[in-house]
Amino acid sequence: MATSSGSKILREATSRGIDLSHLPAHIAVIMDGNGRWANKKGLGRLLGHREGYNTLKGVVRDCGDLGVRYLTVYAFSAENWRRPEEEVSGLMKLIEGAMIEQISQLAASNVRVQIAGRMNELPPSLRDALNKGIQDTSGCTGLTFTLAINYGGRAEIVDAVKAIIESGIPAHDIIEELISKHLYHPQTPEPDLMIRTAGEMRWSNFLIWQAAYAELVVTDVSWPDFDTSQLLNAVAEYQRRTRKFGALAPS
Ligand code: IPE
Ligand code: IPE
Ligand code: MG
Repeated sequence: MATSSGSKILREATSRGIDLSHLPAHIAVIMDGNGRWANKKGLGRLLGHREGYNTLKGVVRDCGDLGVRYLTVYAFSAENWRRPEEEVSGLMKLIEGAMIEQISQLAASNVRVQIAGRMNELPPSLRDALNKGIQDTSGCTGLTFTLAINYGGRAEIVDAVKAIIESGIPAHDIIEELISKHLYHPQTPEPDLMIRTAGEMRWSNFLIWQAAYAELVVTDVSWPDFDTSQLLNAVAEYQRRTRKFGALAPS
């Protein structure tokens, strides 16, 4: 049964000409621009991240309501440890508090939580909150929401190669599908649409294996200002693209 917010976004999508039967199954988002958004307002960077959390709550709800199957968001990269200690610890606390605050709502909305990244390097209390989020939503069958935290695409490939070598697989058996199978979430399909906010035209080490053929949509809007209308813009743009995967476009 659709919620009232659910039927609203479906109506809006339809009125914009979005074909609900051809939604991207998996949307990945590089949530960038929190710092610049805060700077522009004369606020501290952490307030930008806090506002970014509010945006994320809306996007998770919207993707669930639209019927998107997978949403993966880049919350903290393996390279973000290079930031000042105050920002790093503030982000860790924000993510921990957010997970604790949202677990019951996520479960009630039938959203299944996954984590991508090296969890063993995170503060123990954050790890506990993330594990509780995974456990309490493990039976959910709606949107699969993957939070990429301490995530690096290269690190993920390194971890896959280690696992392959440890399992004794000989070199001649190494094919692309085998590497895919050893990534953090082999059951999650590759992203169809990759959105980056705040204008930067780069991947920043996000899903570099899986996004080989993702359609990239970059918007100048900073993550704290990203809303339902921006999400629908990106989906509409995705539906205007012709995906060819190296072949020729169907005539
Ligand atoms: C994205 O916003 C969030 C994280 C990387 C954690 P930024 O903090 O990178 O914001 P800008 O790019 O400095 O504006
Ligand atoms: C990518 O943004 C990481 C996240 C959004 C979590 P960055 O702000 O870290 O990327 P660069 O440094 O501009 O490439
Ligand atoms: Mg940034």
